[in-house]
Amino acid sequence: MSDFDHGFWSIFIAGATLLGIAACLLLLWVTARKKVAPRSDNTTGHVWDGDLTEMNNPLPLWWVGMFILTIVFSLLYLVAYPGLGSYKGELQWSTQGEYEEETRQARAALEPLYAQFTARKAEELVGDANAMAIGERLFMNNCAQCHGSDARGSKGFPNLADIDWLHGGTPEVIARTLTKGRVGSMPPMAAAVGNSDDVNNVAHYVLSLSNSPHDSVRAQLGKSKFTACAACHGASGKGNPALGAPNLADDIWLHGWGVPAIVAIINNGKTSEMPGQAGKLTEAQIHVLGAWVWGLSNKAPAPKP
Ligand code: HEC
Ligand code: HEC
Repeated sequence: MSDFDHGFWSIFIAGATLLGIAACLLLLWVTARKKVAPRSDNTTGHVWDGDLTEMNNPLPLWWVGMFILTIVFSLLYLVAYPGLGSYKGELQWSTQGEYEEETRQARAALEPLYAQFTARKAEELVGDANAMAIGERLFMNNCAQCHGSDARGSKGFPNLADIDWLHGGTPEVIARTLTKGRVGSMPPMAAAVGNSDDVNNVAHYVLSLSNSPHDSVRAQLGKSKFTACAACHGASGKGNPALGAPNLADDIWLHGWGVPAIVAIINNGKTSEMPGQAGKLTEAQIHVLGAWVWGLSNKAPAPKP
């Protein structure tokens, strides 16, 4: 891809580069033609600091040779590599291409290491200290910035070390989550619930599901309005992994706890995205990483005697 947003700039940069090189040649040619009238002592007649005189010697041949070689080199370089505007160069070299080639080589080098893991199920890998060490490193490099270095998440980023899952917690589902990513999306629901009093009442009803502190009169009033939520969160509010709709009855809160937080979600909706890793990590890496994540909330089987 060219970085120039207009064809003119590509031509402008290429022209300025070539003109600069031509100017170097011109400089050499002009200075070679310029003759200073010879004097008997072979100086130019310029004297500084009393006795510092400027000699009138021609440029050494090796220096002129180097100068011309540099110009020839720069022209050959510009033919081979990208340097003239958006011209890609005969070798088709690019930083992107080099990065991809290095990534390919690194993956090929790691293949034998991962081969011993891909044949085994996630449940078995959890007992393999080597696989778990690799899984943890993959997590620290790719996931900790969002889920925290202890994988316990924070507001908006789910805890991966508990048994509460938005999308499901089997090794297969986790692998699917990692590969393709997930989007959890709740639309603004206030209009479907009613006026702001109704929204408040539903919030109290939601809190009552997990026996969190709430106003029981308001909760009772809000109960009938919860039908608007049941399609996703289920009639009893226990959630739906197929939609990524959280369990509202377990007192585990992804987006904050209390009436104001719940009212805000009902009014504004909420969309969270887990980025898919398919382009970043290989299938084998996702297998090992997924096993590590699964292992956070599932005990390793007792080692074989
Ligand atoms: C840019 C931030 C970000 C990064 C990086 C990220 N995640 Fe996530 N992840 C999220 C968000 C946000 C969610 C919740 C999505 C939702 O609400 O449905 C999520 C959800 C998940 C889930 C599903 C949890 C559940 O309860 O079902 C798993 C598993 C997961 N992430 C693992 C990982 C792993 C492993 C990595 C490293 C490869 C990773 N994530 C990288 C933001 C991120
Ligand atoms: C179209 C499906 C859908 C409907 C309808 C819906 N929700 Fe949600 N809700 C979701 C999803 C998906 C999330 C998770 C958003 C995310 O991943 O960030 C969510 C998140 C929430 C949360 C945050 C939970 C937490 O752990 O922090 C609350 C509270 C909530 N919804 C309440 C309600 C209430 C009350 C209603 C009815 C007025 C409702 N929802 C209607 C899909 C829905």
